[in-house]
Amino acid sequence: MILSIDTSCDETAAAIVEGRKVLANVIYSQVLIHQKWGGVVPSIAKRAHEERIDWVIDKLKIDNVDYIAVTQGPGLAPALEVGIKKAKELAKKYNKKLIAVNHLEGHIYSPFVQNSKGNPKIDFQFPYLVLTVSGGHTSLVIFKDHLQYQVIGETIDDAAGEALDKAAKLLGLGYPGGPVIERLAAEVDNIDRYQFPRPMAKSNDLNFSFSGLKTSFFYYLKKLNDRDKILNIKYLASSFQQAVFDSLLIKTEKAILKTGIKNLSLVGGVSANMYLRKLFRQLAKKYQGKVVFPSYKYLTGDNAAMIGVVASYKAKKNLFTDIENLDRSPRMRL
Ligand code: KG4
Ligand code: ZN
Repeated sequence: MILSIDTSCDETAAAIVEGRKVLANVIYSQVLIHQKWGGVVPSIAKRAHEERIDWVIDKLKIDNVDYIAVTQGPGLAPALEVGIKKAKELAKKYNKKLIAVNHLEGHIYSPFVQNSKGNPKIDFQFPYLVLTVSGGHTSLVIFKDHLQYQVIGETIDDAAGEALDKAAKLLGLGYPGGPVIERLAAEVDNIDRYQFPRPMAKSNDLNFSFSGLKTSFFYYLKKLNDRDKILNIKYLASSFQQAVFDSLLIKTEKAILKTGIKNLSLVGGVSANMYLRKLFRQLAKKYQGKVVFPSYKYLTGDNAAMIGVVASYKAKKNLFTDIENLDRSPRMRL
């Protein structure tokens, strides 16, 4: 059994897992705290993690735990620090080995996380082409085998979720923007009335870019008066979302053609979006591949269960971390 902790961004999270099974899981979200700032403020996140971490861990029974796992990075440095400090403290107090996990590995394992009864019973069918889309990350990775990854594309500026959040802010829709945009777009059947540019569509690499799209959206909105903006808000949201998703789909399809890998995986906060899932299913179908998504809704966002599951595979390979040498790694790569 593994106790895992993740404090990489704005959720204070801990879990107890056994292999792929989650026996207990606690997530204390800070979204209400950060909402009024329109995004996550690192110093406020640190304070909130410190205030919550003991409460979150106290919810779990750690007597029978074999190892302690913690997210080392990437993420907000002051936030990561809180989880790592607590993990070290617990490892010393209970004399347990420590396992450091890359947060992105956690997202990659999220479709394979099971509940306490061992559901879903899905098996690994390597290799997978994984699109990670969250507020902080957008990347295409080949998941070759357990704990083996190859990054083949990533965003050169904003993340996809960040782009949706910024667009929502420009529309006065609050934070986080992804879920509101999804809802408004669905109300107009995801119609693409404005046809904003598809960034990087013609570039041959597998990278993404969303800052140009955001700028063109900004200037388009500037031309509208408030009344027009409100009257057309669903179409604006829908068209923006379509531009982001098209760009994700175009690059994923290029990656399928380049690598020959047909089994797809969509993970991260934006993978909660049902319309994006539908587009992904269609893409997989076109190439006769399969597609996996995080197995439960809470696994789309940040959580410690996925960190614990990665750690269970690391434990099998004796990949432990020296307590004294463990340090946060805000820009950690796969
Ligand atoms: O994985 P996550 O919880 O945190 C990070 O590691 O960043 O992702 C948060 C991001 C936010 O940008 C949020 O707007 C987006 O995921 N998001 C969505 C949806 N739910 C959350 N984007 C689109 N549709 C959704 N339903
Ligand atoms: Zn995340």
